Amino acid sequence: MKIFTKILNGNCAKKLKELENDSVDLVFTSPPYADQRKNTYGGIKPDEYVEWFLPISKEILRVIKPTGSFILNIKERVVNGERHPYVLELILAMRKHGWLWTEEFIWHKKNSYPGKWPNRFRDSWERLLQFNKNRKFKMYQEAVMVPMGDWAKIRLKNLSKTDKIRDESKVGSGFGKNISNWTKRDMVYPTNVIHTATECNNKNHSAAFPESLPEWFINLFTKKEDLVLDPFMGSGTTIKVAHLLKRNSIGIDIQEKYCTLVSTIIDQKEDLLFKKSKKNETNKKPRG
Ligand SMILES: C[S@@+](CC[C@H](N)C(=O)[O-])C[C@H]1O[C@@H](n2cnc3c(N)ncnc32)[C@H](O)[C@@H]1O
Repeated sequence: MKIFTKILNGNCAKKLKELENDSVDLVFTSPPYADQRKNTYGGIKPDEYVEWFLPISKEILRVIKPTGSFILNIKERVVNGERHPYVLELILAMRKHGWLWTEEFIWHKKNSYPGKWPNRFRDSWERLLQFNKNRKFKMYQEAVMVPMGDWAKIRLKNLSKTDKIRDESKVGSGFGKNISNWTKRDMVYPTNVIHTATECNNKNHSAAFPESLPEWFINLFTKKEDLVLDPFMGSGTTIKVAHLLKRNSIGIDIQEKYCTLVSTIIDQKEDLLFKKSKKNETNKKPRG
C-alpha cells in the first residue's frame, strides 16, 4: 500500500483552491487562535476572526466529501475580562454557509500548568468542534472503544430487578438502558471528552497539539488510504499521525520552515515504515 503525503506552502485560503471538490475524508486542524502567538506566526484580531476564517471554511466545505467530517480545535480567548464570543459567532456563521454543527468534543488537558488568576481558574480544556456537510457521515466508533473499567466489576456484581430489564428514561427522552447487557462486555464506547496530556516531546512548534489527539479522530472518522487534510499544519502533527496510520494526507502552512520540517520528518518516517520501498520524491517536497 503506497500512501501519499503532500505539503503545500502558502496561505490556505488560496492553496485550498487547488484541491478537488468532494475529495477529503477528514479535515483536522488547529488554526491560530485570535491574537495569540502574534509574534511567532501572526494573529487575527478577535473582532475580525469570523471574517478571516469564513473564506477558509467555505473552501473546506467545497473540498470535503459529503461523508466527511471537519474537526476544528479552537478556544476563545479572554478579552477585557470576558471570553470573546468569536468561536460562537463563527459556529453561527458557518451554519449559515451550509455546515452542520454536529458535535462538540472536549480536549481535557490532563497536565495544564497550575497558576493563580484573580477571577478564574486554570484553563484545562479546549473545544474540538465537529462540522459536517450531511447528517449521514462516516464514523467508525468501534475503532475508539475503551476498556469498561473497574467500576463495572462493582456495579455489575449485584444486579437489581430494574437492572435486568430495559429501564426507560424518567425524563421522557426516549433513551433507555438495560444494565445487565453490559455484563458480557469488556469494551465500551467512549464519551465526547478526550483526556490527554498536552504535547511534551514536540519542540518544533509553540502550539503543537499531542499526537494522541489527531490519532483519535483519524481512527474515528477514516479508514486506511482515506485522505486527511490539515490546512494549518504547523509542525505537522496531523500529517505525521495520518502517515503512520496509513492515511493519505495534505498539509498546508503559510510558513516555509514548517513545510520543510514536515517534509524531512515524513522522509524519515517513510524510511521507518517502508524500508525497502522506493520513495516518491515529488510528493514530499514543499510547493510554493
Ligand atoms: C496552531 S498552529 C498549528 C500547530 C499544529 N497543530 C502542530 O501540531 O504543530 C497554526 C499554524 O497555522 C499557520 N498559519 C497561520 N495562518 C495561516 C494561513 N492563512 N494559511 C496556512 N497556514 C497558516 C501558522 O504558521 C501555524 O504554523
